[in-house]
Amino acid sequence: MGENIDIFAAAWQELEESVIYYYNRPVGTLAAADNEVAALNYDQCFIRDFVSAALVFLIKGKTEIVRNFLLQTLKMQMKERQLDFLEPGRGLMPASFKVVHDQEQGEQYLLGDFGNHAIGRVTPVDSCFWWVFLLRAYVQATGEYSLAHQPEFQKGIRLIIELCLVARFDLYPTLLVPDGACMIDRRMGINGHPLEIQSLFYTTLRAAQELLIDNKENSYIIQAVAKRLPPLVEHIRHHYWLDLQRVNVIYRYKSEEYGEEALNQFNIYSDSIPYDQLSRWLPENGGYLAGNLGPSHLDCRFFSLGNLMAVMSSLTSVEQGEKIMNVIETRWDDLIGQMPMKICFPALRERDWQVLTGCDPKNRPWSYHNGGNWPVLLWMLAAAALKTGREEIAKNAIEIAAHRLPGDQWPEYYDGRNGRLVGREARKYQTWTISGFLLAQEIINNPEYLSLVCL
Ligand code: GLC
Repeated sequence: MGENIDIFAAAWQELEESVIYYYNRPVGTLAAADNEVAALNYDQCFIRDFVSAALVFLIKGKTEIVRNFLLQTLKMQMKERQLDFLEPGRGLMPASFKVVHDQEQGEQYLLGDFGNHAIGRVTPVDSCFWWVFLLRAYVQATGEYSLAHQPEFQKGIRLIIELCLVARFDLYPTLLVPDGACMIDRRMGINGHPLEIQSLFYTTLRAAQELLIDNKENSYIIQAVAKRLPPLVEHIRHHYWLDLQRVNVIYRYKSEEYGEEALNQFNIYSDSIPYDQLSRWLPENGGYLAGNLGPSHLDCRFFSLGNLMAVMSSLTSVEQGEKIMNVIETRWDDLIGQMPMKICFPALRERDWQVLTGCDPKNRPWSYHNGGNWPVLLWMLAAAALKTGREEIAKNAIEIAAHRLPGDQWPEYYDGRNGRLVGREARKYQTWTISGFLLAQEIINNPEYLSLVCL
């Protein structure tokens, strides 16, 4: 017990040391404080990375940093409609930002990266969703609705929803995005309609319903959100769902069906599904949401963030949520192993790895995004487990993490089939590893904090 208290105290200290300041005010946290590897952009504050830190700060009553972050990132959001293709679209928020010190002028300013500097020039679609998620959590924790009700915040939310709902190229209720548009910010065959984006998109629509004031200016957006939600939920719960019963149906699908009556609407060819593995891997009482769905494309990989967020946000039904937790419990070695938890399972191998990652050496099989284990996912696992009444899953996972994270100096990710190796290129003192661990423990200690992250 005493040892555990030390671990948490040490983690908290590391977290406080990662805070970055803008004109002497706390405004975010570094992605990592590893002095042994080139910083690249790990010395910046990433929107998605800051979320778990922000939640810990909110729980500890340190609300100022979260308020400053929300305000400053809102200022960075693209506000004008751009016809110039070199500018990010209106409503988009940066992946990360840094504080620049202009020594000559004696001034400071914040510089956002909208993917224009990022490796692979990936679009940070998830940033605006995490921002809304955090704004809702801030309001929940502080009761300060007036912040979200300020005209600039209302406009910020409207622009995000407009960006998602107005101009689009397809007729699905889901959101179409390029590859690497979320936590997995490298090419990984997740272009199209990846689950992670859909879970965050759904969470944002639900949070917007809570945060938008019912007035004339917002009415068309509120209506559009209300119209989109039911088909989105129906589409995900039905078409993305994989359990033995569904796999049986898909296995016997006919193809080339035309018109409204088509059963196999997306023309999935049976041979594209890894039936042999799935029929052995899926437990009788389990199921999960597939990674992606498009024309003749059903990605059967298990993606943790998308599944856990779907449980937390109630995108999945109660029964589906339970079945997802059953899969995690039954396939513990594959999905949790020696470090909670795998970002996706299984890894892409051989020709799949070549074609879908573009031969990315950082994403070789069972490493990094391609089947690596990411401790930041621990807090989402804990929240989903608690929400579904499976506290023991959360507790066991935290115990595994507590055993290794401090001694390994809080790595960004782990490699290997069971996550036994510290990631080959993992940063040490990765902030969201530290904050994710603290947050998971806070949620276990006080389940009322679930209301900050669950819908
Ligand atoms: C990596 C991760 C990304 C994260 C960033 C900073 O690029 O893939 O999700 O935001 O590092 O930690």
